[in-house]
Amino acid sequence: MDLRDGIGHGIGREQEQGERQHRPEATTLAPPAATPVPFGILHPRPAMPKRDFLNIRDFSRAELLALLDLAARMKRGDYEERPLEGKSVALIFAKSSTRTRVSFEVGVRQLGGHPVFLSARDIQLGRGEPIRDMARVLSRYVDAIMIRTFAQADVEELARYASVPVINGLTDFSHPCQILADLLTAREAFGGMDGRVAAWVGDGNNMCHSWIEAAGALGFELRVAAPEGYDPDPAVVAAARQATTVTLVRSPAEAVAGAHVVNTDVWASMGQEAEQQVRERAFAGFIVDDALMRRAAPDAIFLHCLPAHRGEEVAESVLEGPQSRVWDQAENRLHAQKALLAMLTG
Ligand code: CP
Ligand code: NVA
Repeated sequence: MDLRDGIGHGIGREQEQGERQHRPEATTLAPPAATPVPFGILHPRPAMPKRDFLNIRDFSRAELLALLDLAARMKRGDYEERPLEGKSVALIFAKSSTRTRVSFEVGVRQLGGHPVFLSARDIQLGRGEPIRDMARVLSRYVDAIMIRTFAQADVEELARYASVPVINGLTDFSHPCQILADLLTAREAFGGMDGRVAAWVGDGNNMCHSWIEAAGALGFELRVAAPEGYDPDPAVVAAARQATTVTLVRSPAEAVAGAHVVNTDVWASMGQEAEQQVRERAFAGFIVDDALMRRAAPDAIFLHCLPAHRGEEVAESVLEGPQSRVWDQAENRLHAQKALLAMLTG
C-alpha cells in the first residue's frame, strides 16, 4: 500500500498556490536538446499538494490507522526504507522539550535525514522576523518543519506560507504528535480504541483537546473531568460530538468509571507557571491515585505525556505501578513521529 494514497487529497485547509508550489526538482536531469524525452522523465509527476499535521483532525480515521500500522511496523524493526535520505527537517522550539526534541532528532536520522535544531531564542524569529518570512526561507532549505510554540495561529501561519509540510510539536491549543504515541500505546494494550472508553482527568488543555479530536476521528467514547473554569474549548468538544460521545463532568470518579485508558497531565502547562498556586487549589481532588484507578476497568492503562509532577496530578504509585504505560508511551513518540514523517515527506 502506498501510504501517500489518500494523503494530500481533499484536506480542507485553504491552499495558497503562490506560496505552496513545490520547489523545482529536475532541472539537473535535462538531457541534450536533440534527445526526445518522454513526458514524466524530464518533468517529474505533478507535485501533490503538501500536507501538514497541525491537529489530529487533519487526518482521517483511515489515515490515522494507517499511520499507527506503519509506526508498529517500524517499532518491530520491519521497515528498512529511508524516506528522508538526502532531506533535512527543521525543528523549531520556543518552549522546553526532552521527548519531542530527542525523538524527532533521532527519528529523522533513523529515516536517513538530517535534523536541524533551532531554538526560537537564537534565530531571527526571536528578534521579530515575521513567521511568514521564516516560512518561505526555511522552505528553500529543508523538506519539513516541526515547530513547538505558544500560539496555534503562529503554526497555522507557518503552514500557510511554507511550501513544505509543517508539524505541530505542541502549542497552547494542541499536542497532536503526543496523541499519536498515546494511540499507539493503546493499540499495543487493546488492539485499538474501538469499543474502548478513555477518561481525561485534569486541565482541559492542549493534550485534552488532541484527545477529544482523536475521539472524534476514531469514534471512541471520551469522558473529561475538569474543574470549573478549566473546561476544554467548547468548539473542539462540539466538533467531536458530531462523531462520538464526549462527556464533560466535574468528578474524576465519574469520568474514570469503567474506563480503559486513564489519562492526565500537569495542572500548569508551559507558559502558565505563574498560575501554579491558583491551579493547585482549583485542581485539589483531581489526583490520579490508586483509589481512582480502582474505579477504572480491571485492564485499564494509565497514560501521562510527561513530564509528571508526582503527588500533584498523579500518585507515585500509579506512575510507577503495573497499569502505567508511560515509558512505552514516551518511546512511542519516536515510532509514531517516524511514521508521520514518512507519510508527509516520503
Ligand atoms: N510529552 C512531551 O511533549 O514531552 P517534552 O516536553 O519533553 O517534549
Ligand atoms: N500540557 C503540557 C504538556 C507538556 C508535554 C504543557 O503544555 O506544558
